Amino acid sequence: MAHRSLVAGCGSYLPARVVTNADLAKTIDTSDDWIVQRTGIRERHVAAEGEYTSDLAVKAADAALRMAGMAASEIDLIVCATSTPDETFPATATRVQARLGMTRGAAFDVQAVCSGFIYGLAVADNFVRAGQAETVLVIGAETFSRILDWQDRSTCVLFGDGAGAVVLRGVEGNGGAKERGVLSTHLYSDGRHHDALYVDGGPSTTGTAGHLRMDGREVFRHAVVRMAEAIDTALDANGLNPGDIDWLVPHQANLRIIEAMAKRLNLPSERVVVTVDRHANTSAASIPLALCEAVRDERIQQGDLILMEAMGGGFTWGSALLRW
Ligand code: ACO
Repeated sequence: MAHRSLVAGCGSYLPARVVTNADLAKTIDTSDDWIVQRTGIRERHVAAEGEYTSDLAVKAADAALRMAGMAASEIDLIVCATSTPDETFPATATRVQARLGMTRGAAFDVQAVCSGFIYGLAVADNFVRAGQAETVLVIGAETFSRILDWQDRSTCVLFGDGAGAVVLRGVEGNGGAKERGVLSTHLYSDGRHHDALYVDGGPSTTGTAGHLRMDGREVFRHAVVRMAEAIDTALDANGLNPGDIDWLVPHQANLRIIEAMAKRLNLPSERVVVTVDRHANTSAASIPLALCEAVRDERIQQGDLILMEAMGGGFTWGSALLRW
């Protein structure tokens, strides 16, 4: 019998304040038309002053625990994927742990920028497979609004704040692709692409948090190629075909990237979960936010095969297959 992780619950949270493209056009030289045509983004949520990444994470985690019918005291491990931690240290995961009232187990952060949730899920799933944890809270939480250069129209229009979380629980099974749970995760990185997407600050360099810098075209080019490779590897590893996929729940960076992925898989748009129009790119939070939305509105049903993929700064990228 193999040990694998089942998603027992999911939850998400978005800050109350909504900033539309028209709002941005009041302060920078941009337009709703340009942003919608190039990215599909119409609006994004922005955290209030004094509202931190851990605040968003706790709300998403609470909702995930509620859906799972579990108490925080039953959790063995918290993995929080974020590139916008409350502080340089300690890990935001430990702040969430304290706020949830969890006094045992372990909590740490994972940093893989927009691929953060896939990385966090992979780490958590491997802890469960190895028998080192039975129940894991995986969170993606970000306040990218804090690291944007609000004068740089080529980046500040693209991102938003938010958090999503899933609760994983270890179950026994025969390890087949028809069984429920995380089927596989595949992670990659290539640090040579640092300059295409990075933050120009940090404790060891400038001593400041810095601002996000990006060569959008370069990121776009790599995103489509790399994520397609990661998808092929995931399907091959499980003996599955694109036709077996019920839902594509991609990282939400840009509608054009999402559509390119769907086209390659021959998936109709009704089978692709899209939130980028309302959330923009929430980095590590985007996949669990999209997943929770489609679970909540009952698009995703028990037994459905879900493909998740992401790419982010580093570059990092990866894929995960999940039978709901
Ligand atoms: N409003 C109006 N004009 C703008 C804006 C804006 N917000 N931003 C840039 N422009 C202008 C540029 O100045 C440029 O003008 P110029 O021709 O006079 O010099 C023109 O628009 C074209 O700029 P490009 O950068 O070439 O536009 P492009 O078509 O490449 O679109 C975009 C830019 C949307 C960033 C695209 O490259 C992209 O989506 N890349 C992927 C990046 C991404 O998603 N990153 C997220 C993090 S990584 C990830 O999650 C996968």
